[in-house]
Amino acid sequence: MRRAGWFVLGMVFAGGSALAGDALATGEYNARLADCGACHTKVGGTPFAGGLGIDTPFGTLTSTNITPDKDTGIGGWSDDTFVRAVTDGIGHDGKYLYPAMPFPSYTKMTRDDVLSIKAYLFSLAPVHAPSVPSGLAFPFNIRMSMIGWRLLFFSPGVYRPDPARSAEWNRGAYIVEGPGHCGACHSPRNIFGSTDASQSLGGGSVGRWLAPNISADPRWGIGDWTAGRIATFLKTGVEKTKGVAFGPMAEVVHDSLRYISDADLRAVAVFLKSAPERTQGATGAVATAAALAQGQTLYMANCAKCHQKDGTGFAGAVANLSANGSVTSATPDDIIDAVLSGLHGTGTYGTMPSFAGKLTDQDISDIANYVRTGWGNNTPANATPALVANLRVQAAASLKQNP
Ligand code: HEC
Ligand code: HEC
Ligand code: HEC
Repeated sequence: MRRAGWFVLGMVFAGGSALAGDALATGEYNARLADCGACHTKVGGTPFAGGLGIDTPFGTLTSTNITPDKDTGIGGWSDDTFVRAVTDGIGHDGKYLYPAMPFPSYTKMTRDDVLSIKAYLFSLAPVHAPSVPSGLAFPFNIRMSMIGWRLLFFSPGVYRPDPARSAEWNRGAYIVEGPGHCGACHSPRNIFGSTDASQSLGGGSVGRWLAPNISADPRWGIGDWTAGRIATFLKTGVEKTKGVAFGPMAEVVHDSLRYISDADLRAVAVFLKSAPERTQGATGAVATAAALAQGQTLYMANCAKCHQKDGTGFAGAVANLSANGSVTSATPDDIIDAVLSGLHGTGTYGTMPSFAGKLTDQDISDIANYVRTGWGNNTPANATPALVANLRVQAAASLKQNP
């Protein structure tokens, strides 16, 4: 296989030195990039000891212990066993893993990168934490059903650099498609839970949240962001004119992207600016003029003191809701989720209270539609009380699962 330039860049990053400390630093960096700790750590638990409940459309899966404990973790595993689990989705005991573990993305990682993560994990203190059985619904509780799934949807194989593209572009593509597993959230999935390659990065759902279109389409994607703005958003979670990372994306920035080098984030931005444009936008505007007027009244009473009457917020403190990609995306889920659950606050931004106990499904639907159409946002008003009711149940359930 041709060795592309980014591989060489990787060597430069690693310092080309055989010192154990440098190798561990590379492993820690790659574990951050792949965000292994986000799923393999339960709320308030020891990093990498597993036990986090992960909601899938088929039920709840629990992540496993990947500390080097010999009995309950990966302490006794060979290199090949580890690489097979991470890049091929086959567990240490030969079990097929469910794709909630993003092996369909990690399959693109180089063996060296995967083994650097193993070396890092083996440098940590072992934690004794037996794994918890998963609560999947029939037939998805039958691991063997993964055989058919794999045949249909899984294409194993390391990332192949495109020789016609620059080293930077290839590094960005490798990160987005491989360790960064951006598409695991940002690509739509079919009813079998497989991401749709023909609509890659066109927007997908993560539990109750929408991970919006991040293709290069200027209206529905992020084609109108400069590469610099994309890189800044990824590093800090904040891009003043475009919005603030919240929900699952705030966690991705907090646990992973803020540790990533400027050069790597720049490479990601360069690749995203050239990713195929996905143009599937919003459909089904249903709000009446009377409902929109009611939405405006409720917005002025509940939201305007922070977000201002014109939605612009306060740079550095309160998010701008006009010309904000996650507010003007195909579905209104993220506005509704933000209002239902409240937000922790990213960077210098303040916290936003939950309105779940204060506003009805109809109220929140009306407000979401007002925000989607207000101040030149010009996005179809497709929120409905039924959608709010559904997201309200999901928000309550996920708070119960991982309080
Ligand atoms: C999006 C969540 C998520 C991320 C990110 C993630 N994992 Fe997992 N992982 C899981 C879940 C869930 C399982 C259990 C899957 C199952 O039961 O089929 C799992 C299973 C595993 C297993 C298999 C254990 C066994 O019993 O054989 C290993 C090893 C593993 N993960 C390592 C990693 C490493 C290393 C990374 C980072 C490169 C990583 N995981 C990132 C969710 C995740
Ligand atoms: C765990 C799921 C998840 C992963 C993994 C993830 N994202 Fe996101 N992302 C989201 C969600 C949900 C949002 C919407 C909330 C927000 O705007 O912060 C989002 C928002 C964004 C936005 C803002 C879009 C807009 O129009 O406002 C960008 C840019 C972005 N993500 C890029 C990335 C990149 C690049 C990666 C991979 C390195 C990535 N994301 C990985 C869930 C995810
Ligand atoms: C007390 C001040 C406050 C009030 C009241 C408030 N918000 Fe927020 N809102 C914020 C802050 C601060 C953020 C950024 C927090 C973050 O991203 O973690 C935010 C973020 C958001 C976001 C996510 C946008 C982004 O890019 O971060 C949406 C959508 C939103 N608010 C909608 C509303 C709506 C609708 C209302 C009224 C029902 C409302 N907010 C009331 C302070 C407030």
